[in-house]
Amino acid sequence: MLRCALLLFASAACAAEVPDVLTAANGQPVTTSEAWEKVRRPEVLELFKSQVFGRNPVERPATLRFEPLEADKEMVDGKAVRKRVGICYAGPGGEGRIALTAFIPKAAKPVPAFVLICNRTSAKNIDPERLEKNPFFPVEELVARGYAALAFYNGDVDPDDFDGFTNGVHGVFQPDPKARAADSWGTIAAWAWGASRVMDWIETQPAIDRARVGVVGHSRGGKTALWCGASDTRFALTISNDSGCGGAKLNRMDLPKSESIARINKVFPHWFCANYKKYGDNEAALPLDQHMLIALIAPRLAYVASASLDDWAGQPGEFRSCVLASPVWQLYGRKGLVGDAFPAPDTPLQEGCIGYHLRTGKHDLALYDWQRYMDFAD
Ligand code: GCU
Repeated sequence: MLRCALLLFASAACAAEVPDVLTAANGQPVTTSEAWEKVRRPEVLELFKSQVFGRNPVERPATLRFEPLEADKEMVDGKAVRKRVGICYAGPGGEGRIALTAFIPKAAKPVPAFVLICNRTSAKNIDPERLEKNPFFPVEELVARGYAALAFYNGDVDPDDFDGFTNGVHGVFQPDPKARAADSWGTIAAWAWGASRVMDWIETQPAIDRARVGVVGHSRGGKTALWCGASDTRFALTISNDSGCGGAKLNRMDLPKSESIARINKVFPHWFCANYKKYGDNEAALPLDQHMLIALIAPRLAYVASASLDDWAGQPGEFRSCVLASPVWQLYGRKGLVGDAFPAPDTPLQEGCIGYHLRTGKHDLALYDWQRYMDFAD
């Protein structure tokens, strides 16, 4: 109670008491990294599974296999090898395939990598031929700085529409939608599952350093990246770009221009699990808030970015979640976010294990964002 009150005091704009990430369900304070890992982290993870994103019916399927889609090709002026691979799986309801594109710099040692969950059309945004060079996926810049650039289209895993969970990976592994429960996985969980299958492939690639892989997503892809990095600890860095409601934005912060849980569930009824519907216009009943999603990434690296014109994503709420997640890094003797005042545009905070910046401009994943992500990863 006292801790909640203090959190409230520290943030006048919070409409309701924010649950304390370091108080366990039994009311006991969590004061060591061991207690975080044994007690509190599993509790928080379970809350996000059961109340927000839903439970996956399967993690790495026994049927998973990788098949080349094309012969490897030298690209980026001969500086990188492009691989195109089908990540294939089958279940009781049929088969699915994610088409992954990877540009891997030629190097003497294994290279670090970024995996982009692309929520925009493939041809224009993640063109494997590089005829369209969109800053959404700046392959040439990433390769020049020594990073492998990987991307897949989220719609390969699960189409972004509400069809009653029959198409995409939902239909593959749970062909009978009537068998779904209030905590069955939604579409964001499905996309995050897809990013984890990309990591399964990375683990077969000696040219990529699997211990230095970041997962990146924008907007709905940013919500997905956060859930992926929170639930799959193989990712060393998790990057949320303009993720907003259901992503980095603290629900209990009073930001009238930003998206609410009621609105997101109404317009995108397939993104979250059915239990999440309970919290529309009822944020105070949530046993969690989004700072706890970021906290699940500790002690690994996290980065949250906002854009100055993107009020819909609730920029101060995205920032506030970083501040409130930081005590978990301190349990490991590390710093979370360094800086607790909302920064001016284009002044990145990158000293601790949580990075944050507010880019000048609109809702987008821009070259400026990528450059800051690379600075942080460097
Ligand atoms: C809509 C939605 C957001 C989402 C965004 C996007 O604006 O309300 O929650 O982040 O689409 O994915 O671009």
